[in-house]
Amino acid sequence: MTRGKFITFEGGEGAGKTTQVARLAERLRAGGVETVVTREPGGTPLGESIRDVVLGASPEPVTELLLFAAARAEHVAKVIRPALAHGTWVLCDRFVDSTRVYQGVMAGVSADLIGAIEMRTVAPTFPDLTVVLDVPAEEGLKRTEARGALTRFDAEHAAYHVELREAFRRVALAEPERCVMVDGSRAADEIAADIWRTVETRLLAEARP
Ligand SMILES: Nc1ncnc2c1ncn2[C@@H]1O[C@H](COP(=O)(O)OP(=O)(O)OP(=O)(O)O)[C@@H](O)[C@H]1O
Ligand SMILES: [Mg+2]
Repeated sequence: MTRGKFITFEGGEGAGKTTQVARLAERLRAGGVETVVTREPGGTPLGESIRDVVLGASPEPVTELLLFAAARAEHVAKVIRPALAHGTWVLCDRFVDSTRVYQGVMAGVSADLIGAIEMRTVAPTFPDLTVVLDVPAEEGLKRTEARGALTRFDAEHAAYHVELREAFRRVALAEPERCVMVDGSRAADEIAADIWRTVETRLLAEARP
């Protein structure tokens, strides 16, 4: 059986990740591709409990890293890997790049430690494609504020979001074979069409018999 493809969506708050995950899932399913949608932190009952604990507290960066890593280890082993092995495509809302950006670049945990944990929790199940949605910080904040769903991360200062955007751009540029940067400031339909073209060229072409 052909392994499914693993696609992750990354970017700052309000970049449109959840919206575009849903759009792509709809389009893949319409084309007969079995697709599961999942998210991080979370993705399993244990992972969702860890997500609730972390988002309701103010842990040290390394504590946060380890708790999210625990959630990810479960998620990869129990959900992502089995689905891919079964031929199902997996779309994940945030994954390793969010850790590299939030706990790494932004909170200062060393890239070496993060890399070592990735090797033990994720490898060799890295994404086939990562869509990094890029929007100006003010635009992302405006969108999440309009939605009224503020989490601890959303409440941070605006300068933080400017830095965050830069961090996602750097992380994406560091791995061009895996990551594609998409201008997320356009209309949702336009972005979805753009992502679909990338999926067709990079993944569907080779998945077809
Ligand atoms: N291209 C777009 N143009 C305008 N508004 C958008 C666009 N995409 C999404 N939105 C709206 O912006 C808000 C944030 O979008 P979404 O939840 O998809 O972002 P997100 O990246 O998942 O955010 P978060 O990091 O907070 O989970 C939602 O209210 C959504 O309807
Ligand atoms: Mg979201």
